[in-house]
Amino acid sequence: MKTYLVTGGAGFIGSNFVLYMLGTYDDIRIVNVDKLTYAGNLENLASLKGDERHIFSQTDICDKSALEKLFSEYEVDYVVNFAAESHVDRSILIPELFAQTNVMGTVTLLDVAKRAWEQTDGTFGDHRYLQVSTDEVYGSLGAEGYFKETTPLDPHSPYSASKASADLFVKAYGDTYRFPANITRCSNNYGPFQFPEKLIPLVINNALDHKSLPIYGDGMNVRDWLYVEDHCKAIDLVLHKGVLREVYNVGGHNERSNNFIVHRVIEYIHDHVDAEVTDTLITYVEDRKGHDRRYGIDPEKIKDDLGWYPATTFEVGIEKTIEWYLKNKVWMEHVTSGAYQGYYEKMYRNR
Ligand code: NAD
Ligand code: TYD
Repeated sequence: MKTYLVTGGAGFIGSNFVLYMLGTYDDIRIVNVDKLTYAGNLENLASLKGDERHIFSQTDICDKSALEKLFSEYEVDYVVNFAAESHVDRSILIPELFAQTNVMGTVTLLDVAKRAWEQTDGTFGDHRYLQVSTDEVYGSLGAEGYFKETTPLDPHSPYSASKASADLFVKAYGDTYRFPANITRCSNNYGPFQFPEKLIPLVINNALDHKSLPIYGDGMNVRDWLYVEDHCKAIDLVLHKGVLREVYNVGGHNERSNNFIVHRVIEYIHDHVDAEVTDTLITYVEDRKGHDRRYGIDPEKIKDDLGWYPATTFEVGIEKTIEWYLKNKVWMEHVTSGAYQGYYEKMYRNR
């Protein structure tokens, strides 16, 4: 039986990954390490109640001694690091928190894993570490071209700067100690359990409540959207079959403008749920500072080398996502009560 230490496994992508792995493999266990910030939610893991293969620990990845304890208590074979502050808008307000969690947290985790795994001859056996990163580390594209693994890092937001810094520490551990790590850099995800600070769940939630739908700037910024389960499958593949110390970009050639995304959500809700939801809810608001114009992934490496492909088309994925939020209104009510209200006011009131 293999043991996976998954950090940030109560957040959006992390919880989807934990559920995917335990649903796919019988003979594994997952030590789920999550600080439970505003973005971490044990309700995402409710279906695992009673499953002894899932061990949850409320732990901060910056807490070295707590991590050391977990590594000595469980024989950890693999680490997948999802834990992060993940929202660009929040990073513009509080950059230090992003440096602390995303950079120092990653360095702490790398160091604890290295010490736990390193053998007397300096090798690491079959252990593996995967750093879940983002295409945002490459910066912004013009109308043409794609991010390749060789594209120079050029982060613009405090979020992407912190993720790029973490990637460089992972690279340094590989270069210096031959630490057995990979980095995946994925495009924007969407799907179940995404916190409604991000565009798609925010727009779904607001539309259902007949609240205005804020589009930053002219709405022509482009993101390359990937259904979260396809990202989980890519991580599973890279973790087990990736060439050590290589970077893999993950994306499905699904570039859409923000205007397109918001109109598609409105159209679906209008046609299937509530005819009163129309384009009139859209409000163009002040642009995000330093707003990256376009992200677009070249996924040829992971396709050619590991046979990964995105199984879910955008048409299917967006319908599944909206249907999930319709069926899980209580989940949405829970995450939007309390602190979310203050956040929303602060972010959108004077925009
Ligand atoms: P999220 O904000 O939904 O979840 C982050 C999780 O990390 C939460 O459960 C939170 O409680 C936990 N966490 C935060 N600080 C922690 C700490 N110090 N110690 C332990 N746990 C901590 O984020 P997400 O969207 O699921 O993203 C997960 C990872 O994937 C991040 O590393 C992000 O950079 C990366 N990523 C996200 C996207 C995307 O579109 N969401 C795309 C590419 C890469
Ligand atoms: P987001 O979901 O925050 O992801 P990221 O910034 O990591 O790409 O934003 C996706 C796009 O949607 C981005 O171009 C910013 C834009 N956006 C809006 O126009 N309005 C909003 O209320 C939000 C949250 C995002």
